[in-house]
Amino acid sequence: MKRVSDRFMQLGVSAGIVGMALGVMMGKTEDFTLAPVHAHINLLGWVSMLLYALVYRAVPKAAEGRLPTIHFWLNVVCFLAMIPSLALYLMGNKAAMIPLALSSAGGWLSMVLFAVIVFKATWRE
Ligand code: HEM
Repeated sequence: MKRVSDRFMQLGVSAGIVGMALGVMMGKTEDFTLAPVHAHINLLGWVSMLLYALVYRAVPKAAEGRLPTIHFWLNVVCFLAMIPSLALYLMGNKAAMIPLALSSAGGWLSMVLFAVIVFKATWRE
């Protein structure tokens, strides 16, 4: 994928809009049931995706090869599965725990992959 950093940046700012809008709505309705959803959209979406984008820009070697593309898709698919699963779970749907657990584990794996990418690109003999 060309410019994995651009894609992460675009998704990060989009997540920021959605996450902050949910924060505004929670404040307006005084219903904080979905506060953890708001926190995860902002922290895994806006903050983490922007950080991935900035690292890929600051360390161009990290953006080389196929691993960054795998990191991007694993991260995005797990994020998009985790957010609605978490919302359903918090609204009382206990069966949502299965996709929630799977997508959370996948999100963690994408972080491990990112760590491998960063170590490979920054390791000095
Ligand atoms: C327009 C911007 C934002 C608004 C209006 C907003 C609003 C809120 C509200 C109303 C709560 C619930 C407070 C409570 O339970 O008493 C909350 C919780 C929280 N927010 Fe935000 N927020 C905003 C941006 C952000 C951002 C940018 C982040 C992180 C990068 C963030 C992270 C959190 C966290 C970690 C919690 C605690 C969640 C929990 O208790 O489970 N918020 N926010």
